[in-house]
Amino acid sequence: MARILTGIQSTGRPHLGNILGAIKPGIKMAGEANNDAYFFIADLHSLTTIKDPGLREEYVHAVAASWLAFGFDTDKNVFYRQSDIHEVAELTWILSCFTPYPMLANAHSFKDKSKNLHDVNAGLFTYPVLMTADIILYDADFVPVGKDQKQHLEMCRDIASTFNREYDSEVFVIPEAMISKDTMLVPGTDGRKMSKSYNNYIDIFLPEKALKKQIMSIVTDSTPLEEPKDAENCLVYQLFKLIASERDANTMKSKLEAGNYGYGHAKKDLFGFILDNYKSEREKFDEFMNDKVMLEMKLQQGAEKARQVAREVIKRVKDKTGYKTN
Ligand code: ADP
Ligand code: TRP
Repeated sequence: MARILTGIQSTGRPHLGNILGAIKPGIKMAGEANNDAYFFIADLHSLTTIKDPGLREEYVHAVAASWLAFGFDTDKNVFYRQSDIHEVAELTWILSCFTPYPMLANAHSFKDKSKNLHDVNAGLFTYPVLMTADIILYDADFVPVGKDQKQHLEMCRDIASTFNREYDSEVFVIPEAMISKDTMLVPGTDGRKMSKSYNNYIDIFLPEKALKKQIMSIVTDSTPLEEPKDAENCLVYQLFKLIASERDANTMKSKLEAGNYGYGHAKKDLFGFILDNYKSEREKFDEFMNDKVMLEMKLQQGAEKARQVAREVIKRVKDKTGYKTN
């Protein structure tokens, strides 16, 4: 049985890109026979940018509610909030003493921001060390991540191996990145990659009116209603195709290509489809968001399971480094 582990940042409410690119594939992978899945909400990482406690908690809950709404099985898997396991902060400090400064200075995530150093806090600089602790504290074998996280995983392997070498033992499991080449790229309402940072996202959990407004804002060209349209170049169709059945997608394509079917019609069809297709997920999301006690209970059950492994691993680390475990 291989242990897969991944972290999901709580930097906003999950959008359609996060759902199709991360939540649905993650749930599928966790359900596969030989996997023992540890998925957590990286709320300590999000403190590098989000300082407001209420907002951070709101995002933690929104991320958790999205995974649960899409059917993530928290009984079979381990689903928890990063900050609930205090050992991760302790391990981060220990590992930081095994991390060469130039390695961190070379991280893309830091270098990208290093032109504006006064905006960079030390938490952002040591982000890869916390991420390393996240992974090796749970003896993870495989870490499914996007291409952008490849360097962080290489650092993780380096830091864990340095520690193992120093103590001439196998204290840490050396994890492997699982980078899927064919992850779906969901376009945003302006045609760029859908992202929280571009404010071009579709939040399928919004109330109807607000959701409709987002869908109506999808950028289209000015081909008049009666004229045939190039479906493949139409963002509404591109989004529809990602979620609808092949038959429904072909129907929209034919209508666009035939003329007398405007972009407004296509947007209405997309909106109607989202409401129908995600009816139960929308309801469940609202139920969880309105029942924080239930949501917290699920997270605490996950934390309980995660803590057991974390305690064993931190004990191994402390035994080697000569600290007492209380
Ligand atoms: P954002 O760009 O909105 O801040 P994140 O960087 O937090 O999104 O991404 C969280 C997860 O969702 C990652 O696994 C990422 O690969 C996936 N993801 C984000 N945006 C998209 C998108 N437009 N299409 C497909 N997957 C996406
Ligand atoms: N840095 C990852 C991201 O931005 C989130 C993350 C934090 C993570 N800790 C992790 C991913 C551990 C995998 C394993 O997407």
